[in-house]
Amino acid sequence: MARPSPTEVGDMPAPTEVGDIALLGTGTIGASWATYFLARGLSVTAWDPASDADARLRAFIDAAWPAMERLGLAEGADPARVRVTDEPEGAVEGALFVQENAPEDEALKRTLYRRIDAVLSPDAVLASSSSGLLISTLQEGLQNGARFVVGHPFNPPHLIPLVEVVGGRSTDPAAVEWALAFYNAHGKKAIRVEREVPGHIANRLQAALLREAFHLLLSGAASAADIDAAIAHGPGLRWAFMGPFLTMHLAGGEGGTRGALEHFGPGLESWWADLGTPRLDEDAIETLSRAAGEMLDGHSIPALEAERDSRLLALLAALEKPMAPAGRS
Ligand SMILES: NC(=O)c1ccc[n+]([C@@H]2O[C@H](COP(=O)([O-])OP(=O)(O)OC[C@H]3O[C@@H](n4cnc5c(N)ncnc54)[C@H](O)[C@@H]3O)[C@@H](O)[C@H]2O)c1
Repeated sequence: MARPSPTEVGDMPAPTEVGDIALLGTGTIGASWATYFLARGLSVTAWDPASDADARLRAFIDAAWPAMERLGLAEGADPARVRVTDEPEGAVEGALFVQENAPEDEALKRTLYRRIDAVLSPDAVLASSSSGLLISTLQEGLQNGARFVVGHPFNPPHLIPLVEVVGGRSTDPAAVEWALAFYNAHGKKAIRVEREVPGHIANRLQAALLREAFHLLLSGAASAADIDAAIAHGPGLRWAFMGPFLTMHLAGGEGGTRGALEHFGPGLESWWADLGTPRLDEDAIETLSRAAGEMLDGHSIPALEAERDSRLLALLAALEKPMAPAGRS
């Protein structure tokens, strides 16, 4: 079946014409999303049940704004264009796009969705930031459930471009299409996940790598610092602009993927057979956290976070020109 183009999606305006968005939940992820959309020139109406939500949200936006200025602000970007409502209904009423960032708790999200369902515009698309819940379950029994998708960001969404979009069993494919177009129109790199899989794509890939990193450390193959260095000074450098498929294809030279797999395939299969599956029992957790503590060598977490974000900004600036076909757009 042909996919509808973003301009054919129901009665919704083109994604670039949506100037206001609603946010539900303004914790770690919601506050970061708010900062991002404000920097893209949109206005944000938000709700969060915490009593200090308004002050916390504004403090987060103010602290992150210099980074957004370094990244480049869109026309109309203004950190003050945020409004916090007393009730979730007030935040979503009239909105055409809602990004939901409530705690990762199925019952809590379902209660919230039932509450807002009656006031949602039938044309609105709601995207859940959920890392692991199925939208198929969350959308059950709602009158607007067909417009609900997952729009999973990577932390922190105000800096990292990736968003993973997936619909549930009863999601209208047009809503998925519109969400992809909306994120991409506002500077994100949104990818389509064709079917619901726990952890979506990026976190599953991270989980596969973490499994082996933990196994290598726990089995005494190398220290935490050296395992981290093996990534940061090796494959991590090119992973910033190309993924495993293009990497493999280029490894095959003129022979491409076929040449690489005919050459490296048997070795790869024998390594797969040898990969570990560590158990995260108390001993393993103790060893892993001691190893990480030794690696920090007295550096404070806030100082390391600040350095990470500063390097991330420099990297994003360096990568502005996309590399086809796997580059950012
Ligand atoms: N933290 C991450 O790295 C990360 C990354 C990607 C996606 N996510 C997803 O984002 C969502 C939010 O996670 P987080 O890390 O921001 O959590 P968080 O605990 O930092 O924030 C959750 C916020 O939701 C508020 N809240 C509580 N009850 C609520 C309700 N009924 N309705 C709306 N808001 C409510 C809380 O007051 C809090 O401010 C989760 O679904 C999570 O899976 C998290």
